[in-house]
Amino acid sequence: GAPETRTPTGARTGAPSTANGQQGTFLTTSQGARLRDTDHSLKAGPRGPVLLQDHHLREKITHFDHERIPERVVHARGAGAHGVFTAYGTAEAVTRAGFLRKGRETDVFVRFSTVLGSRGSADTVRDTRGFATKFYTDEGTFDLVGNNMPVFFIQDAIKFPDVIHAGKPHPDREIPQAQSAHDTFWDFVSLHTEAQHHTMWNMSDRGIPRSFRTMEGFGVHSFRLVNSAGETVLAKFHWKPRLGVHSLVWEEAQLLGGIDPDFHRRDLYDAIEAGAYPEWELGIQVFPDIPEETFAGIDLLDPTKIVPEELAPVQPVGKLMLNRTPTNFFAETEQVAFHVGHLPPGIDVTNDPLLQGRLFSYVDTQLTRLGGPNFSQIPINRPHAAVNDMLRDGFHQDAVHAGVAPYRPNSLDGGNPFPAGDAEHAFVDVPVTVAEAPKVRANPASFDDHHSQARLFWLSMSPVEKEHIVRAYTFELGKCYHQAIKERQLQSLANIDPVLCAQVATGLGLPAPEPTVPLADVAPSPALSQLGRQWPTD
Ligand code: HEM
Repeated sequence: GAPETRTPTGARTGAPSTANGQQGTFLTTSQGARLRDTDHSLKAGPRGPVLLQDHHLREKITHFDHERIPERVVHARGAGAHGVFTAYGTAEAVTRAGFLRKGRETDVFVRFSTVLGSRGSADTVRDTRGFATKFYTDEGTFDLVGNNMPVFFIQDAIKFPDVIHAGKPHPDREIPQAQSAHDTFWDFVSLHTEAQHHTMWNMSDRGIPRSFRTMEGFGVHSFRLVNSAGETVLAKFHWKPRLGVHSLVWEEAQLLGGIDPDFHRRDLYDAIEAGAYPEWELGIQVFPDIPEETFAGIDLLDPTKIVPEELAPVQPVGKLMLNRTPTNFFAETEQVAFHVGHLPPGIDVTNDPLLQGRLFSYVDTQLTRLGGPNFSQIPINRPHAAVNDMLRDGFHQDAVHAGVAPYRPNSLDGGNPFPAGDAEHAFVDVPVTVAEAPKVRANPASFDDHHSQARLFWLSMSPVEKEHIVRAYTFELGKCYHQAIKERQLQSLANIDPVLCAQVATGLGLPAPEPTVPLADVAPSPALSQLGRQWPTD
């Protein structure tokens, strides 16, 4: 393979090199010694014991013994593809991010996933789907690590281990594999009622997509965009699929789980290999960056809330096309490492307490999953921008760094690390005022409304979508062993909508409770219904 290019300081540039291990035509050891036989161990005579001195045997088996790495603690099952993102230029007024300039093309790698199942679980389970995109921009990598639902279960990352423990298989019986059908999940969401909105999305047809190609994607959090004049707006990212939004019906999902558990990844690979390249449009909802960080009374830092598209239209800013399947699942889909902190100039984070915790979590888990601190050197994770950092040594260090002074600035061989010029810099923090307030372990009061947007979602559904939601709640809650958990969840449903509650209660053979809070006064949002959703610019 072509040798990788390095700058004089050892920084990596350009495209990744071809991996070792497949050079030449004859079989060798890992040290390049040519082999004549790889099928027979060295033995003391044809019937004798195997000899410890057989280096080829030991090398072959030792390496095999260590082939597996830990699966992701969440989003373990996934499928990825390469593609290209083309910017329309429509976001130039609100962000200085270079990859959003008109006509700019950027290489991307996307990984779709389920959240809760293990690597070998079925594709068509009822669950949230991950939709993570790595943009290899020439100003540094941007990872948009989103889901196919615009809201999340919890408002504070400190609860993330709890919600995942509640959703993963029970520790004693290792049941179930999917999100559905067990006591701890319903126990959690009925006690931590901020999860009710996301759970409603899960119980809707959104929980069983027809294809990755027919899923929307959402960045969930509000981000802060910065333009070249230093002006800021708050924004939410949306992916809209060219094929429209489509789901399976429950019976299809069940059949496919048995007949073809790889249904979604097969569909993705087959489509790309047939030249039917899937496409999504990236859009943003833009909000004024006011000190309250609200829009139309909705708290933009609360990741359990949407802003209805009727109030803030999604404005298209570019197009994604997936056009190449991975060469090697492990090297690309399994070893890819996303991080919400991988941000280019012009895109900044907000104080959303879920996002703040994510900024810590991803690199921390990847240190274990990918064996140390140098996983950004793995080909799929290498930036396509030139890298010149002060990070040195560590497990799996692949670079041969030159120079005597691994710190900058230095007076020995460093040159000027910050030359004057017009290049945009990342991590130039927006000087947002941090309130003079005492330290607290508490949420703002606006985070206490847990039912109004679940009600908004329910009221926005068509009759057939409502019927599917009722059936899903009835089926999943019907799997709980503990009646008290079913009753507590019915109480939340009563607080969302009495009709929904009554229908699920009937299905469960339990009485429907009365609401304990006033029903929210919300108008349906037609854009939430999946029926009739189309490619936005057709
Ligand atoms: C992985 C999305 C919240 C921790 C992922 C992946 C996605 C995702 C798409 C899969 C990445 C891949 O394909 O490699 C989200 C979204 C969230 C959210 C949309 C909320 C809006 C959180 C929070 C935490 C967290 C709050 C922890 C505090 C993790 C971890 C992984 C992961 C540890 C595994 C990463 C790896 O092993 O590479 N998340 N997540 N996530 N997420 Fe999240």
